[in-house]
Amino acid sequence: MSKSATLNVDGKSFEFEVITGSENEKCIDIQKLRSETGYITLDPGFGNTGSCFSSITYVDGAKGILQYRGYPIEDLAEKSTFVETAYLILYGELPKAEQLRDFSARLKEHAPLNTNLEHHFSGLPNNAPPMAILSAMLNLVSCFHPEVLEVPTTGAEFDRTASLLLSKVRTIAAFAYRMACGKPINHPNPNLTYCGNFLHMMFSDPYQEYEVSPIIDKALNLFLILHADHEQNCSTTTVRVVGSSRANLFSSVSAGVCALWGPLHGGANSAVIAMLEDIKDSGRPLTYYLDKAKDKNDSFRLMGFGHRVYKNFDPRSIILKKQVHSVLEALNINDNLLKIALELEEATLNDDYFVSRNLYPNVDFYSGLLLRAIGIPLNMYTVMFAIGRMPGWIANWKELHDHKLRISRPRQIYTGETARPYVSIAKR
Ligand code: CMC
Repeated sequence: MSKSATLNVDGKSFEFEVITGSENEKCIDIQKLRSETGYITLDPGFGNTGSCFSSITYVDGAKGILQYRGYPIEDLAEKSTFVETAYLILYGELPKAEQLRDFSARLKEHAPLNTNLEHHFSGLPNNAPPMAILSAMLNLVSCFHPEVLEVPTTGAEFDRTASLLLSKVRTIAAFAYRMACGKPINHPNPNLTYCGNFLHMMFSDPYQEYEVSPIIDKALNLFLILHADHEQNCSTTTVRVVGSSRANLFSSVSAGVCALWGPLHGGANSAVIAMLEDIKDSGRPLTYYLDKAKDKNDSFRLMGFGHRVYKNFDPRSIILKKQVHSVLEALNINDNLLKIALELEEATLNDDYFVSRNLYPNVDFYSGLLLRAIGIPLNMYTVMFAIGRMPGWIANWKELHDHKLRISRPRQIYTGETARPYVSIAKR
C-alpha cells in the first residue's frame, strides 16, 4: 500500500498520497485538498510548493548537488560544451556525433535575423537596457515566424522552434550591445562555434576581425553550461505560468527574461560587480557593508550571497571561483576585485549572521568576475545569464505541454473589506 499523510481538520480525517521522486525527495499530493476539505494552503514565495513533476534538473540544496538529466554539473562543466548541454537538457540524452552535428547545423541556419527585425534596434536610445531589448525582441521574433505561434505537435516542429530560439537569442543579445555602443551590427559567421560566433558578433570591428581565444571560448561555454537550467526558479516558473495559458514559447521566454532581470535573481550578477567596485572605490572597511546587510532597517543585501534552495554551498559558485582564478592567470590579468571578493567571502564565513542563516556565495558571486575577465561589458551580464538559461526555459515549457498541465492559477486568503453598499460621491 502506498504511503499517505493524514490531515485532521474540523473533526474529520483526510488522507493524502505521499509521492517520492527518483532521488527520494518526498511530497504530499494535495491536489484534492480544496475539493475534499474546503481548505487551501498558504505558501507565499512557494518555498514548500511542488508545482510540477519534472525530469530535467535535480537540485539537492543540503548536499550542494546539481544534475541536468542525471549528469553532475561538475562533469558537464569540465567535459561538455554549451551546445551539447543544451541538447541534453532539451532532449534528455547526450547527443550522438550525428545528432550533435545536425543540432549545430540547425543553430547555424537560424542565427541571422530578418532584416526587418534588425531595423527595430536602431530606433532605441543608446542607453536602453539590453534586458528590455532582449525581452521585446524575443517576442517580436515570432512575428517573422508565424508558425512558432502554435504549440509544436511534431518532433520536427519542436526541433525547429527550439533551435531557432536558442540561436536567435544570441544574435539579438549581440545586436543589442552593438546598438548600445553605436557600432555597426556584425552578422553571424557560419564558420564559427556557438560561443565563437557570439564573441564575433559582439566584438568584431570593420577594420579588425575578433580573434576567438580558446581560453575565452572555453570560459564562455562553462559560464553558459552552469546557467543552463535550475529547476523551478523565478524565471522558469514565470515561463511555465505564462505558457500554461497556452501563450507561445517566444512570449513565454520573453516574460522569463523580465523575471530574470530583477536583482534578487539574474540581475544579481551585475549588482555583485557594482558592489565590489563600490567597496574598492569607497575605501570603507568590509564591516561597513556587513553591518549594512545585517541592518533590518536597511534594504541593502550582500549581492551574490544566499539561495532559496542551497543551504550549504552552491556547486556552481565553487566551479566558477576556480575558473576565475585559472582564467585570470591564463590571460595574465590582475583583477583587484577578485581580492575584495575573496576577503568578503572570508568575512561572511566568520560572521554568525551569515553562517546561522546559511548565506554562502551563490552562482552570481563569482560569475561577474569571470565575465569581466573575458571582456563582457557589465550591462550584458544578465543577458549572458538569459542566453545560458534558454535551454532550461524551452525544456520546461515543452514539459508543461507534454504533461498537459492545467492553467496556473493560485488562490489567496482575502484580508480586505467585507461586502458593503456603494457610497455615492456626495456622501464620501
Ligand atoms: N544579505 C543579507 N541578508 C540576507 C541575504 C543577503 N544576501 N540573503 C538573505 N538574507 C537574510 C534575510 O534578511 C533573512 O534574514 P531574517 O531571517 O533575519 O529575516 C534570511 O537571510 C533569509 O532570507 P530570505 O530573503 O527569506 O531568503 P529567500 O530564500 O527568500 O531569498 C535570495 C533568497 C537569493 C533572494 C536572497 O538570499 C537574496 O536576496 N540574496 C541576494 C541576491 C542574490 O544574490 N540573488 C541571486 C540568487 S542565486 C541565482 C539566481 O537565482 O538568479
